[in-house]
Amino acid sequence: MNRDRSGIYQEIVRQLVMAASTATLYAIDHPQVSRLCEAADKSIKEAMGGETEIALIAIGDEIIIDEVPLKGSYYSERLARQLKARGIGHLKILHKVTPAEIRQLIVTISRNKPGGDDARSTENIRFGKVEVRHSDEKGQEIAGYEDLTEDELGTLINTFDKIAERESFDVSGITNIVTGFVGAIRNQFNPLLALVPLREMDEYTFTHSLDVCVLNLVQGMTLGIDGPLLADIGLAGMLHDAGKIFIDREVLNKPGKLDETEMEHMRSHPRRGAEYLLGCPGIPRIAILSSFEHHIKFNLTGYPSVSSDWQLALPSQMTMISDIFDAMRTRRIYQTSLDFDYIERVLLEKAGTELNPYLTRNFLKVMKRLSVEL
Ligand SMILES: [Fe+2]
Ligand SMILES: [Fe+2]
Repeated sequence: MNRDRSGIYQEIVRQLVMAASTATLYAIDHPQVSRLCEAADKSIKEAMGGETEIALIAIGDEIIIDEVPLKGSYYSERLARQLKARGIGHLKILHKVTPAEIRQLIVTISRNKPGGDDARSTENIRFGKVEVRHSDEKGQEIAGYEDLTEDELGTLINTFDKIAERESFDVSGITNIVTGFVGAIRNQFNPLLALVPLREMDEYTFTHSLDVCVLNLVQGMTLGIDGPLLADIGLAGMLHDAGKIFIDREVLNKPGKLDETEMEHMRSHPRRGAEYLLGCPGIPRIAILSSFEHHIKFNLTGYPSVSSDWQLALPSQMTMISDIFDAMRTRRIYQTSLDFDYIERVLLEKAGTELNPYLTRNFLKVMKRLSVEL
């Protein structure tokens, strides 16, 4: 295989995924989306060189471009799944493709509805349909935080595997990664961009855990928290849902409402997570507390039920906000995506009752600033 071509194709796939993910969060004419669409357009034209077309095929979790199979990367797997969900088995891009058509392609990929009905071919982009399956395939999705090295990713995978096996794990490896996030955020790295490529996943995966970690760090930093305490607040976000490993998958992934028994079972995850983390050496106390407290709610009306004079730890209250924000933002692929204004309204409604009002307003302020910077 020509290594150069593979690299060029990987880059196209990455740009398509980035653009589609960003378009899910923002409007298609948002400057950030436009920039990503233009970048994808440019890469596609460059890749074409003198050829008249490029052909992209999605098979299983693999993407093949012009007969070059792309080594299973996060982006190629993700694009393959997105195309499949929209009923697209292959697509051909002809050399006269226009920026408007590329934009339309991004819109098609970013749609939050199942089915391929909206995947209409245009003059220079031709879709080939496959049978649409709506099965809820889970698992194995690999995080794509671009700043993570292979080693760091390996450490994370290893840690989450250990959690999945309910084994004890060494916290020092992930503490280093959290500290790395802090440095990256300080260096003008916009955490919202890091969150963008990692949507549409199973609740208990890297994604949600890393997202809540990064969102906790942002909150902590804007409150002037630094050093080991800040890292612990990040860790608390990363490990808050560890207890979900004790919840049956059918209950975790049930699309509709849970019945009372299922709800009871689901409600045990904070307690079970805290118990599990207690058995792992070196886990900071606030991470154990966040696991236990992140569903209790500011007004103590959530679960597990606690005495009326219970004092919630501040990191737990931060985790509640990051958790709710991320859960709303990353609604599963088959659900309607929610825009930022709506999320803001919901969070403001909860401020003072379910969520700490000061922390919520601080969080929204920083999220707004960051989204303007994008
Ligand atoms: Fe939870
Ligand atoms: Fe959560």
